[in-house]
Amino acid sequence: MTILITAGPTREAIDPVRYLSNRSSGKMGYALAETAVKAGHRVILISGPTQLDLPDRVDYIPVESAAEMFSTVEHWIGKADIAIFAAAVADYRPAKVPEQKIKKNNEHMTLELVKNPDILGSARSQFNYEGVLIGFAAETENLETNARGKLERKGCDLVVANDVSRKDIGFDSNENEVLFVFKDRTEAPPKDSKQHLAHLIIEQAFELAENR
Ligand code: C5P
Repeated sequence: MTILITAGPTREAIDPVRYLSNRSSGKMGYALAETAVKAGHRVILISGPTQLDLPDRVDYIPVESAAEMFSTVEHWIGKADIAIFAAAVADYRPAKVPEQKIKKNNEHMTLELVKNPDILGSARSQFNYEGVLIGFAAETENLETNARGKLERKGCDLVVANDVSRKDIGFDSNENEVLFVFKDRTEAPPKDSKQHLAHLIIEQAFELAENR
């Protein structure tokens, strides 16, 4: 099978030398890519900038901004049987990016932001993707309710939800405690390494692919 995975943060340019981003390490997405490749599948890894070593034998497409990730996913998703969106896509980007570095001439400055496209949310509605669709939800409250809302709105088969208000798991950590929110049920696997969670998620993905 071919598995498309998005991973890492995106960088949204403010000017030629500055950007807005987030603390995503990319660990979850890279662990998923490694697991899927080791299971003998083709992996297309579309990733924002990370400090991680690239797993062997993945088809790696580096991107920076959400807009770039959007058009890259749009181009490749038709090849995928399973698509897993583990990237922490910036919700907003600066409305205008000047060609020259912004000078510090004023005491105050305001950055106007505009909303980025929802890549996961476009998979079904815009890219007409019909394979298995898996999203992530990083929440600080009402974990299951918010994740289920996302599952329904974005047409996912599975949303992997984690509580990012906890310091011991999630962003930039090696461990995670997640909920698997399916259309018909929710499962709560125990807290575990991202490597082992990647195995569980890939396992679920194949099961969903078989039953589609
Ligand atoms: O809505 P929220 O950002 O919490 O949704 C998280 C899920 O949606 C993740 O799977 C993330 O990769 C994906 N996403 C996306 N494009 C965006 C925002 C989120 O693909 N612009």
